[in-house]
Amino acid sequence: MSSRPLLTLLVFLLAGAAGPLRSQAAPTTGREHLLMDFDWRFAYGHPFDPQRDFNNGLGYFSYLAKTGYGDGAAAANFDDRAWRQLDLPHDWAVEQPFSEKASFSHGFKAIGRPFPDASVGWYRKSFAVPATDLGRRISLEFDGVFRNSIVWVNGHYLGTEASGYNGFQYDISDYLNYDGKPNVIAVRVDATMEEGWFYEGAGIYRHVWLTKTAPVHVAPNGTFVTTQVAGSAATVTAQATLANGSTTAQLVEVTQTVLDAEGKTVATSPATQVRVAGAGQQDLGSRIAVAGAHLWSLETPYLYTLVTRVRQGGQVVDEYQTKFGIRTIRFDANEGFFLNGKHVKLTGTNNHQDHAGVGSAIPDALQEWRIRQLKSFGCNAYRTSHNPPTPELLDICDRLGMLVIDENRLMGITQNNLGELKRLMVRDRNHPSVISWSIGNEEWAIEGNILGARIGATMQAFAKTVDSTRAITVAISGGWGQGTSTVIDLMGYNYIGQGDTDAQHAKFPKQAGWGTEEGSTHATRGIYVRDEARHYAAAYDQKPNPKFYSIEGGWQHYAARPYLAGMFIWTGFDYRGEPTPFAWPSITSYFGMLDLCGFPKDNVWYLRSWWTNQTVLHLLPHWNWPGREGQPIDVWAYSNCDEVELFLNKKSLGRKPMPRNSHLQWQVPYAPGTLVAVGYRQGKRIATDEVRTTGPAAALGLLADKPAVQANREDIAVVTVQVTDQRKLLMPTANPEITFSLSGPGRIIGVGNGDPTSLEPDRYVDTVRVIPIENLRERAADSFTTGPELTPTFDDASWVTAFTTRQYDAAQLAPTAKMYVTRGSFELPRHALGGSRVTLFYQPIGREQSIYVNGRALTQGLKAEQSPAAGFVLDAALLKPGKNSIVFVATPLVKNRPWDVTNTLPGTIQVRTPAPAWKRKAFNGLAQVLVQSTQAAGEITLTAQAPGLKASVLKIKSVAAPARAAN
Ligand code: GAL
Repeated sequence: MSSRPLLTLLVFLLAGAAGPLRSQAAPTTGREHLLMDFDWRFAYGHPFDPQRDFNNGLGYFSYLAKTGYGDGAAAANFDDRAWRQLDLPHDWAVEQPFSEKASFSHGFKAIGRPFPDASVGWYRKSFAVPATDLGRRISLEFDGVFRNSIVWVNGHYLGTEASGYNGFQYDISDYLNYDGKPNVIAVRVDATMEEGWFYEGAGIYRHVWLTKTAPVHVAPNGTFVTTQVAGSAATVTAQATLANGSTTAQLVEVTQTVLDAEGKTVATSPATQVRVAGAGQQDLGSRIAVAGAHLWSLETPYLYTLVTRVRQGGQVVDEYQTKFGIRTIRFDANEGFFLNGKHVKLTGTNNHQDHAGVGSAIPDALQEWRIRQLKSFGCNAYRTSHNPPTPELLDICDRLGMLVIDENRLMGITQNNLGELKRLMVRDRNHPSVISWSIGNEEWAIEGNILGARIGATMQAFAKTVDSTRAITVAISGGWGQGTSTVIDLMGYNYIGQGDTDAQHAKFPKQAGWGTEEGSTHATRGIYVRDEARHYAAAYDQKPNPKFYSIEGGWQHYAARPYLAGMFIWTGFDYRGEPTPFAWPSITSYFGMLDLCGFPKDNVWYLRSWWTNQTVLHLLPHWNWPGREGQPIDVWAYSNCDEVELFLNKKSLGRKPMPRNSHLQWQVPYAPGTLVAVGYRQGKRIATDEVRTTGPAAALGLLADKPAVQANREDIAVVTVQVTDQRKLLMPTANPEITFSLSGPGRIIGVGNGDPTSLEPDRYVDTVRVIPIENLRERAADSFTTGPELTPTFDDASWVTAFTTRQYDAAQLAPTAKMYVTRGSFELPRHALGGSRVTLFYQPIGREQSIYVNGRALTQGLKAEQSPAAGFVLDAALLKPGKNSIVFVATPLVKNRPWDVTNTLPGTIQVRTPAPAWKRKAFNGLAQVLVQSTQAAGEITLTAQAPGLKASVLKIKSVAAPARAAN
């Protein structure tokens, strides 16, 4: 039945009455939301060495003292030609090598306090704003930057955001050039400190946007939609906050319209007049009835759109879209969780944002692929442990039907702490997928004591003022019965090995509960024998110590107790860091049901058996055990059949009934051949699985998750690389090194294999080093010289520091000397001479100049305006490792006005070392390549090669697609 507008109920103005209005021309264009991910420049800065931090913050008046005084790399006119070019999202941590000195919890990537050279990153981007934008409000929005970011636009300091997880935005309208001059964003990111105890990445790892609106517009995250359902009718309560970016009061007319999933109008509120004070804000809202509502559910995640339309002088000046779902949620202290009145046991996983190859910079298409992987084994809920997630992740959960615990980072009650919680909630509260706000996780200093009770109670009460429609939870690892667990509405149990859920339920019978973390097993994909020396943990769902619970043990506890709403396994995917129970050189966790690439470990089939309605039968281990003939091998079957019978080389090894929420096991003396399991339901054979002894590795196979990508520079294909034997059977112990090449309109953005001990690179990108020209000393001269001062060995100790002692003429415009000889040097790393390209990006220091490198002329008589934008590529034969000499003989620059500052930095040296070919070892027969489209349509060809194996070639179509509106 289609939804039709039935009745538009009530429109109410929450505050403020319409008042006198001053006429002001309505802006001509409405809202634009432009992606700012493409064509950034990037370079490493430094946490404490100002020279290596591009001289930022050295000014007599700093950018904190005077607006517009961003200096060094923050200045609009800073020359960033030598910096690397890249697109966002970008995680520079994943590009670092590994080091034993680095952080255990962050996957031993060489970043953080001991690695100052790789812990600060600078990003710059220039963009155009047309003259017709003058009068609009323009804001720059960051979905998340890890971390401690400082942002400037055109040299104006906009703000500092400490959090690596919060989104933030700055209104930049008044700082922009509307006259055709470029606008420049500069962002300094300092990832020296960690926020979590898990891999967090570094840099601008989420999207950046430019939003342009009319002066009166819906404020950022300015709507809040809630729904009430009665039978098949629903009432949508739509609140909105209008912002007026003009200086005078404005009168506008607002309507709110609900669209169905096809974009058809369902109902519209009556228009209401709203007066918004100059530079002020105004709340308003409507209640809109929706008959025959399509409910949002896991099976049918139906999404409506609320359009808040602002009209001024008869023109639509803003249209703000809010996706929402109509659904009810309820947690019951005795019966668990209900969605639309229907009981749903939550079968969840915890996840960090981290994937092979790309780290935390996960493209949207990969986020979606990851959610689909989780859904494939019956996971219906996702905990964003332990931080506010990337917004697109929630969009995907809304669209695909995945419930979410949306988690705050740090517990606390200061304005700052509560402000962060509020920002998370206001940003995310329209997502139907979000069913609970988690105010924190395992705050060991407080959770079991009175501080935890106080802080938990304050945070919970505060959270309810922002959104009272979702349950507030907190994940607690100990001290159950005391502390935070005495005040929280929805008790989050972290590991039943740490307390007694039944006792807590008996003591607090009105408190709902769920397992926010449970099931703690270590496993390495494709490994069936524990290997202490090589840091491989076997499958077979082994719990780490007697106190803890396996996946099976954990699920049995939660499945058996109706008062527990469900459980969230620690974790869905492996992530970098926490390689417990091992340490260096293991770099990835072992907890995942899926490895870092998303390849399933065997536990996935246990969950699929009991979390889905699919018929499941899965045998483990593989059947390649040369040298172990006759020895007993543990064989397990995961299945939801009634009975399973096992056969080795056609001989039955017995038929066993399958206990609910469990598995079956046999000990089978090894003989090569075929192990077959047959599953029966009600006596009927309904499923089989088999593992076969394979031949040696013979070939490579490539398989993409989809046949075509969209040519929008964002979409990706997830490519599985398989090592097979002659018969195309996966060779489960093969680990050859595979080299990849790509041609056509695509690029490889990352490789992985799920091996927790692999120290191979995730990414192969050109190394770009930016090297300063230093030690500048000078003397005056009368004419262009060819003297010994041009040679590297010349002793310039008696010369003065360049530009410091120049005398000027009476008008203070031109130096009195006709010319200057300015000597400097730059240090080249050893590798710069083998295969690297060294470029001088010159910034003229004279009207006319000659430049000498190591005594040889690079250019002579070069006019300032002729300096090449692409720089001077320096011939390797001219250069040497270590100190290189550079000499400038120049007629000095003159000023237009005495207070002008002429350039004193002759530019920078860029050393660009091309990346080697992309490669990765297979791990137990598998590897992964992430291929991203460009903006060109065509055919992408990916080739995989390994010595002695038949190569594989994969074609992926890249289909013309409108790129997202971008600036
Ligand atoms: C929990 C913690 C998780 C993770 C896990 C590893 O205590 O909440 O973030 O560290 O332990 O076992």
